[in-house]
Amino acid sequence: MRAADIQQDLAKILVTEEQIIAKLDELAARVADDYAGKDLVLVGVLKGAVMVMADFARALPMHAPMDWMAVSSYGASTKSSGVVQIRKDLDTDLHGKHVLIVEDIIDSGLTLSWLLENFESRGAESIEVLALLRKPEAAKVVIDCKYVGFDIPTDFVVGYGLDYAERYRNLRDVAVLAPHVYS
Ligand code: XMP
Ligand code: MG
Repeated sequence: MRAADIQQDLAKILVTEEQIIAKLDELAARVADDYAGKDLVLVGVLKGAVMVMADFARALPMHAPMDWMAVSSYGASTKSSGVVQIRKDLDTDLHGKHVLIVEDIIDSGLTLSWLLENFESRGAESIEVLALLRKPEAAKVVIDCKYVGFDIPTDFVVGYGLDYAERYRNLRDVAVLAPHVYS
Protein backbone atom coordinates (compact mmCIF):
# COMPACT_ATOMS: atom_id res chain seq x y z
CA MET A 1 0.00 0.00 0.00
CA ARG A 2 1.32 3.45 -0.95
CA ALA A 3 1.56 6.38 1.48
CA ALA A 4 -1.18 8.21 -0.44
CA ASP A 5 -3.57 5.28 0.04
CA ILE A 6 -2.93 5.27 3.77
CA GLN A 7 -3.63 9.02 3.91
CA GLN A 8 -7.06 8.32 2.35
CA ASP A 9 -7.96 6.21 5.38
CA LEU A 10 -7.46 9.18 7.71
CA ALA A 11 -10.22 11.73 8.31
CA LYS A 12 -7.81 14.22 9.87
CA ILE A 13 -4.55 14.60 11.76
CA LEU A 14 -5.37 15.23 15.41
CA VAL A 15 -1.97 15.48 17.10
CA THR A 16 1.28 15.86 15.19
CA GLU A 17 4.57 14.14 15.94
CA GLU A 18 6.06 17.52 16.93
CA GLN A 19 3.25 18.18 19.41
CA ILE A 20 3.66 14.67 20.86
CA ILE A 21 7.42 15.01 21.35
CA ALA A 22 7.06 18.44 22.96
CA LYS A 23 4.36 17.15 25.32
CA LEU A 24 6.36 14.04 26.29
CA ASP A 25 9.40 16.24 27.03
CA GLU A 26 7.22 18.34 29.32
CA LEU A 27 5.77 15.27 31.09
CA ALA A 28 9.26 13.75 31.43
CA ALA A 29 10.50 16.87 33.22
CA ARG A 30 7.57 16.63 35.65
CA VAL A 31 8.09 12.92 36.23
CA ALA A 32 11.84 13.40 36.81
CA ASP A 33 11.02 16.01 39.44
CA ASP A 34 8.34 13.93 41.11
CA TYR A 35 10.46 10.75 41.24
CA ALA A 36 13.89 12.21 42.09
CA GLY A 37 15.75 9.73 44.32
CA LYS A 38 13.05 7.07 43.93
CA ASP A 39 13.15 3.57 42.50
CA LEU A 40 11.02 4.08 39.39
CA VAL A 41 9.83 1.35 37.01
CA LEU A 42 8.06 2.17 33.78
CA VAL A 43 5.44 -0.36 32.79
CA GLY A 44 4.35 -0.15 29.17
CA VAL A 45 1.15 -1.71 27.95
CA LEU A 46 1.74 -3.55 24.69
CA LYS A 47 1.44 -2.92 21.91
CA GLY A 48 -0.09 0.55 21.77
CA ALA A 49 2.32 2.18 24.23
CA VAL A 50 5.49 1.21 22.37
CA MET A 51 5.99 4.59 20.67
CA VAL A 52 5.01 6.58 23.77
CA MET A 53 7.46 4.56 25.87
CA ALA A 54 10.28 4.99 23.34
CA ASP A 55 10.01 8.77 23.22
CA PHE A 56 9.02 9.34 26.84
CA ALA A 57 11.76 7.13 28.30
CA ARG A 58 14.42 8.83 26.18
CA ALA A 59 13.24 12.23 27.40
CA LEU A 60 13.58 11.13 31.05
CA PRO A 61 16.84 12.33 32.61
CA MET A 62 16.99 9.50 35.16
CA HIS A 63 17.26 5.71 35.45
CA ALA A 64 14.04 4.25 34.16
CA PRO A 65 13.93 0.47 33.88
CA MET A 66 11.16 -0.69 31.57
CA ASP A 67 8.88 -3.65 31.76
CA TRP A 68 5.98 -4.64 29.57
CA MET A 69 2.62 -6.16 29.98
CA ALA A 70 0.37 -7.35 27.20
CA VAL A 71 -3.36 -7.38 27.79
CA SER A 72 -6.20 -7.60 25.37
CA SER A 73 -9.66 -6.19 25.53
CA TYR A 74 -10.33 -5.08 21.98
CA GLY A 75 -9.64 -7.62 19.26
CA ALA A 76 -10.34 -6.10 15.85
CA SER A 77 -13.28 -4.00 17.01
CA THR A 78 -13.30 -0.30 17.92
CA LYS A 79 -15.08 -0.70 21.28
CA SER A 80 -13.67 -1.90 24.62
CA SER A 81 -15.22 -5.11 25.89
CA GLY A 82 -14.12 -4.52 29.47
CA VAL A 83 -12.98 -8.13 29.53
CA VAL A 84 -9.24 -8.06 30.09
CA GLN A 85 -6.94 -10.97 29.46
CA ILE A 86 -3.21 -11.04 30.34
CA ARG A 87 -1.27 -12.12 27.26
CA LYS A 88 2.17 -11.39 28.73
CA ASP A 89 2.88 -10.68 32.37
CA LEU A 90 5.65 -8.51 33.85
CA ASP A 91 9.16 -9.86 34.47
CA THR A 92 9.67 -7.42 37.36
CA ASP A 93 8.69 -7.89 40.99
CA LEU A 94 6.89 -4.63 41.76
CA HIS A 95 7.30 -4.97 45.52
CA GLY A 96 8.56 -1.66 46.95
CA LYS A 97 8.84 -0.07 43.50
CA HIS A 98 7.35 3.18 42.30
CA VAL A 99 5.41 2.15 39.21
CA LEU A 100 4.47 4.45 36.37
CA ILE A 101 2.13 2.80 33.89
CA VAL A 102 2.73 4.16 30.40
CA GLU A 103 -0.36 4.03 28.19
CA ASP A 104 -1.27 5.16 24.73
CA ILE A 105 -4.87 6.08 25.43
CA ILE A 106 -7.58 6.04 28.07
CA ASP A 107 -10.88 5.47 26.33
CA SER A 108 -13.55 3.82 28.51
CA GLY A 109 -10.92 3.42 31.24
CA LEU A 110 -11.95 -0.21 31.75
CA THR A 111 -8.55 -1.68 30.86
CA LEU A 112 -6.63 0.62 33.17
CA SER A 113 -9.02 0.26 36.05
CA TRP A 114 -8.52 -3.49 35.81
CA LEU A 115 -4.73 -3.08 35.55
CA LEU A 116 -4.57 -0.72 38.53
CA GLU A 117 -6.45 -3.18 40.69
CA ASN A 118 -4.18 -5.99 39.52
CA PHE A 119 -1.02 -3.96 40.29
CA GLU A 120 -2.22 -2.91 43.71
CA SER A 121 -2.15 -6.54 44.78
CA ARG A 122 1.55 -6.81 43.85
CA GLY A 123 2.87 -4.61 46.64
CA ALA A 124 4.10 -1.60 44.69
CA GLU A 125 5.11 1.42 46.80
CA SER A 126 3.13 3.72 44.50
CA ILE A 127 1.31 3.46 41.18
CA GLU A 128 0.64 6.33 38.80
CA VAL A 129 -0.51 6.52 35.20
CA LEU A 130 0.85 8.41 32.22
CA ALA A 131 -1.36 8.40 29.14
CA LEU A 132 -0.58 10.21 25.91
CA LEU A 133 -4.27 10.54 25.04
CA ARG A 134 -7.52 10.56 26.96
CA LYS A 135 -11.13 10.63 25.75
CA PRO A 136 -12.97 12.30 28.66
CA GLU A 137 -16.42 11.83 27.08
CA ALA A 138 -15.93 8.08 26.66
CA ALA A 139 -15.11 7.38 30.31
CA LYS A 140 -17.10 4.54 31.88
CA VAL A 141 -14.96 4.53 35.00
CA VAL A 142 -12.95 7.43 36.37
CA ILE A 143 -9.20 6.86 36.23
CA ASP A 144 -6.91 8.98 38.32
CA CYS A 145 -4.31 9.72 35.66
CA LYS A 146 -1.58 12.02 36.94
CA TYR A 147 0.17 12.63 33.61
CA VAL A 148 -2.05 13.23 30.57
CA GLY A 149 -0.79 14.33 27.18
CA PHE A 150 -3.91 15.40 25.30
CA ASP A 151 -7.65 15.23 25.89
CA ILE A 152 -9.32 14.34 22.60
CA PRO A 153 -12.86 13.77 21.26
CA THR A 154 -14.37 10.27 21.25
CA ASP A 155 -13.54 9.45 17.59
CA PHE A 156 -11.49 6.32 16.99
CA VAL A 157 -7.87 7.33 16.46
CA VAL A 158 -4.85 5.58 15.01
CA GLY A 159 -1.13 6.20 14.66
CA TYR A 160 1.84 6.57 16.98
CA GLY A 161 1.31 3.04 18.29
CA LEU A 162 -2.48 2.99 18.01
CA ASP A 163 -3.91 0.52 15.54
CA TYR A 164 -7.01 -0.57 13.79
CA ALA A 165 -6.72 -4.33 13.12
CA GLU A 166 -2.91 -4.01 13.53
CA ARG A 167 -2.63 -1.31 10.89
CA TYR A 168 -1.57 2.34 11.20
CA ARG A 169 0.61 1.87 14.32
CA ASN A 170 3.62 3.09 12.39
CA LEU A 171 2.16 6.49 11.47
CA ARG A 172 4.09 9.34 13.07
CA ASP A 173 1.04 11.43 13.95
CA VAL A 174 -2.21 10.58 15.72
CA ALA A 175 -5.12 10.76 13.27
CA VAL A 176 -8.85 10.16 13.26
CA LEU A 177 -9.61 7.03 11.27
CA ALA A 178 -12.05 7.64 8.42
CA PRO A 179 -15.35 5.82 9.12
CA HIS A 180 -15.28 4.15 5.67
CA VAL A 181 -12.39 2.00 6.92
CA TYR A 182 -14.42 0.25 9.63
CA SER A 183 -18.08 0.66 8.67
P1 XMP B 1 -10.22 1.41 27.30
O1 XMP B 1 -11.54 1.66 26.58
O2 XMP B 1 -10.28 0.16 28.10
O3 XMP B 1 -9.17 1.22 26.13
O4 XMP B 1 -9.81 2.60 28.10
C1 XMP B 1 -8.22 0.24 26.21
C2 XMP B 1 -7.31 0.14 25.04
O5 XMP B 1 -8.05 0.16 23.84
C3 XMP B 1 -7.29 0.74 22.83
N1 XMP B 1 -8.02 1.93 22.30
C4 XMP B 1 -7.81 2.45 21.10
N2 XMP B 1 -6.99 2.06 20.12
N3 XMP B 1 -7.73 3.87 18.82
C5 XMP B 1 -6.96 2.77 18.97
O6 XMP B 1 -6.21 2.45 18.06
C6 XMP B 1 -8.60 4.32 19.75
O7 XMP B 1 -9.28 5.33 19.55
C7 XMP B 1 -8.63 3.57 20.97
N4 XMP B 1 -9.35 3.69 22.10
C8 XMP B 1 -8.92 2.68 22.89
C9 XMP B 1 -5.99 1.14 23.44
O8 XMP B 1 -5.01 0.15 23.26
C10 XMP B 1 -6.32 1.27 24.91
O9 XMP B 1 -5.20 1.10 25.73
MG1 MG C 1 -3.27 0.30 25.10
